[in-house]
Amino acid sequence: SENHYHQFVVRTATVKRLCKTRNILTVNGQFPGPTIYARDGDNMVIKVTNAGPYNISIHWHGFRMLRNPWADGPSYVTQCPIQPGGSYTYRFTIQNQEGTLWWHAHTGFLRATVYGAFIVYPKLGSPYPFSTPRREFPILLGEWFDRDPMALLRQTQFTGAPPNVSVAYTMNGQPGDLYRCSSQGTVRFQVYAGETILLRIINSGLNQELFFSIANHRMTVVAMDAAYTKPSNTRVLMIGPGQTINVLVTADQPPGRYYMAARAYQTAMNAAFDNTTTTAILEYKNRPFSRPILPVLPAFNDTATSTAFTSRIRGLSKIKVFQNFDVSLLFTVGLGLINCTNPNSPRCQGPNGTRFAASINNNSLVLPRTTSLMQAYYQGVPGVFTTDFPPVPPIQFNYTGNVPRGLWTPIKGTKLFKLKYGSNVQIVLQDTSIVTIEDHPMHVHGFHFFVVGSGFGNFNPRTDPARFNLVDPPVRNTIGTPPGGWVAIRFKADNPGIWFLHCHIDSHLNWGLATALLVENGVGPSQSVIPPPPDLPQC
Ligand code: C2O
Repeated sequence: SENHYHQFVVRTATVKRLCKTRNILTVNGQFPGPTIYARDGDNMVIKVTNAGPYNISIHWHGFRMLRNPWADGPSYVTQCPIQPGGSYTYRFTIQNQEGTLWWHAHTGFLRATVYGAFIVYPKLGSPYPFSTPRREFPILLGEWFDRDPMALLRQTQFTGAPPNVSVAYTMNGQPGDLYRCSSQGTVRFQVYAGETILLRIINSGLNQELFFSIANHRMTVVAMDAAYTKPSNTRVLMIGPGQTINVLVTADQPPGRYYMAARAYQTAMNAAFDNTTTTAILEYKNRPFSRPILPVLPAFNDTATSTAFTSRIRGLSKIKVFQNFDVSLLFTVGLGLINCTNPNSPRCQGPNGTRFAASINNNSLVLPRTTSLMQAYYQGVPGVFTTDFPPVPPIQFNYTGNVPRGLWTPIKGTKLFKLKYGSNVQIVLQDTSIVTIEDHPMHVHGFHFFVVGSGFGNFNPRTDPARFNLVDPPVRNTIGTPPGGWVAIRFKADNPGIWFLHCHIDSHLNWGLATALLVENGVGPSQSVIPPPPDLPQC
C-alpha cells in the first residue's frame, strides 16, 4: 500500500459562469475541487487548512472509516468544524473499497461549491469485473446558484422557507451549451471510434435528483456507490444527490458529436425547481464537423422510468446478505410544518403561518454547537444528546393519506439511535408523504448497505419481505426512498462510533431530516474506536 499526502486549502476564488463573475469557496482555488486518486489499501493523509471566512469540515463520502469516526468529517457530528485560520489533518486507510467516491464540505450548504471526485482503483493486480476500459472520465453533476450558499442556508434553515433553486446544472463545473454565455466552457470528452470508456458519474448537487443520458449511446451500469453491479444496459439513468454510478459506454455510433445531458427528476408536488438542462459533449476524434445531437430525457416527474432503472440493478458483492436480522426498524422520513408563535416573524416563511421542518420518526435533529456528538460521547460529556430515539411500529399510520395532524409537527431534539455492535440490522425507510410526497436520498455514514426491497405505498411487514431480494441485492451508501413509498436496507453494525444518517437533499438535512447511529460494543468508546488525533478541532 502507498501513502498519499494532500494539501487542501479552503479559500475563495473568482469564477465566471453565465456571464457573471462570482467569488465562491473552493479547495486550492479549483472548481470543482481536485480529484483524488488512490488504491484500495492505501493510507490517506489530507491536511485541510481553512483560509476561508466560514467554519468548515470535509466529509469523505462513502468511505467506511472503520473505528475511525474522527476522519469522517460531518460538522458537529464527528468533529467540530475547522475554524477560519485553523487546520485539521484527516488520516485514514482505505479498507476493502474500490470505485467512485467523492468528498465534499459537510457544514451548512458549503458543499454547493466545495466538492470533488475521489477515485479508488483496485489493489495492484486485482482486475475490474469487466474488461479494463480504454479511458475514463469523472463527471461531477452539480447545481449552480446565483447566491452565496450561506445566504441560501439562511433562507431555508432560519426562515423555514422553501429553498432557492439553482439557476443551472453543471457537469464538472460547467453549465454547457444550452445556457447563455456557457458554450466556451462546455466540457468535451474525446473518444476514438470503437473504444469503450468508463464514466464515473457523481451527483454532487445540493437538492436535486437528476436524469442523465447520452444521445444515441447505450450505457452499461457496472457499479454504484463504489460497489460493483451486474452489468445493466440503459439509455437513461437516475442519480440522486450523494450517489455515484459507473457506466461503460462504447463509441459505436457514426463518428460525430453527441450531447450528454442531465436535468431534474422532481418528485415534490407543487415545489419550484430548476427545469434547465446541462450538457457536455462526447466527441469522436477525427470526426466530420457536426452539430451535437441532444438525447431525449424523461419528463421531470417520470417516476416510472426512475423506478424501472433503480429496481433493475443487481449487486455483485462477494459478501452475502444475511437472511435473519437482530434489529428491525421502521424510520419514517419526510417533511413537516411547525406552527409559528408569531406568524409575522421573518422566521415564519412556510405556508399558512408555519415554517418548514423535516424529520425521521417525527424527530427533527438539532445538532450541538459547543461540541460534536462523537467528542461528547468519547469524553463522556453529559447533556449533549440522548439515545431514546423512538422506533415506529410498522403500519401504525397510513402514510399514503390521512396522516394524523400531530405528525405534521416534528419535535426538535438531539436523539440518537443506539445499535449493538455486531448486530444485523434492517431499516425500512418510509416516505411519510406529509406536506408532499418526495424521493428522499438517504445516506448512512460509516456503512454501506444492501438494498433488499422497495415499493410504493405503506410498507407491509407481513407481505413485502416475501419479495425481498436476498440473493443479489445491490450495495449502496445512499438510496432513494421512493416518493410515497419505502425502501428496505440491511447492514451489519460492525463499525463502532457515531454515524450520521440523513437525507442528502441539503435543505431537508438542514431542516432536521437526520439522526445518528451510535454503535456500541459495551466496553465504551475509548476501547472501541481509535483515540482522537491531537489536532481534532474544538468548537
Ligand atoms: Cu455526502 Cu453526510 O454526506
